[in-house]
Amino acid sequence: MILVTGATGTIGRALIERLRGEDVVAVLRRPADLDCAHVLGDLERPETIAAALSPGDRLFLNSSLWPGFVQAHQRMIDLAREAGAGQIVTVSVRGATPGALLGGGAHGEVDAHLRKSGVPWSILEPVGFMQNLPAEVRGGRMYGSYGSAPVGYIDARDIADVAAALLTRPVGESGVHVLTGPEAHSHDEIAAAIGAALGRPVEYTDLPVPEMAAHLARQGLPEPVSHDLAALMAEIGDGRWSTVTTAVQDITGHPPRSLAAFLADHAPAFER
Ligand SMILES: NC(=O)c1ccc[n+]([C@@H]2O[C@H](COP(=O)([O-])OP(=O)(O)OC[C@H]3O[C@@H](n4cnc5c(N)ncnc54)[C@H](OP(=O)(O)O)[C@@H]3O)[C@@H](O)[C@H]2O)c1
Repeated sequence: MILVTGATGTIGRALIERLRGEDVVAVLRRPADLDCAHVLGDLERPETIAAALSPGDRLFLNSSLWPGFVQAHQRMIDLAREAGAGQIVTVSVRGATPGALLGGGAHGEVDAHLRKSGVPWSILEPVGFMQNLPAEVRGGRMYGSYGSAPVGYIDARDIADVAAALLTRPVGESGVHVLTGPEAHSHDEIAAAIGAALGRPVEYTDLPVPEMAAHLARQGLPEPVSHDLAALMAEIGDGRWSTVTTAVQDITGHPPRSLAAFLADHAPAFER
């Protein structure tokens, strides 16, 4: 059995679709519109999820971040080991390491715990999701602190495809998989591509970190998240997310979806 946490999320919904026909069970915090076997469970009470695991079961461990994320995910890993789980596939972020900004630091702590858990593991390290882009375009503009550094955004559907492949083939060697799209673009180029897909101009404006933090705060992000997110954008501006990998192709057998393909499929999301 494959137990899927975060099943209602961006990756999780796509993963459930990929796993149709398999012995798959979604973990839900409350009943949802997923046409799939499910159990009710909450990572804030990991024992509610571990109760569904039997020896040899495979666990997709993923959720959004919250202040108790590290402790909850580490405890979930411990309980999965005690239940005899055969594999844990988890979603981290490229370059995650303890002490890094925002999710990078939290994931770094969880990933370190998983590596020494004794359960066979796969850590997926995606860069930013293309699915973030619609929310970043407002009134024909998008803002950031990335400078001119290219970013190889990934379509979250490819993360689901990678997870599905790893969860359905015989459990292999544990390892980290850095997941990117097929090409990296500067945010000027991304804005131009969005504009071309929508048929109206979209421009990227690069802001210094303090101004970007203030912009994010005006949109409702609390301190210190607004500042840390702007600082993270500036870190990415050093080019650390500018290289692309072949991991999606290597694991799934198909190339990752391009930005152009994403935009063709998601144009209505930019109008909302
Ligand atoms: N967005 C990016 O650009 C990006 C880049 C790299 C890495 N990541 C990583 O991707 C992960 C998020 O994946 P996603 O975008 O697919 O998720 P998402 O769309 O934000 O959905 C979050 C999922 O987590 C579930 N969840 C939240 N708290 C939970 C809890 N206490 N117990 C059980 N389930 C809980 C939610 O369930 P409910 O429906 O019940 O709320 C939902 O299914 C994060 O680890 C993030 O750091 C994101």
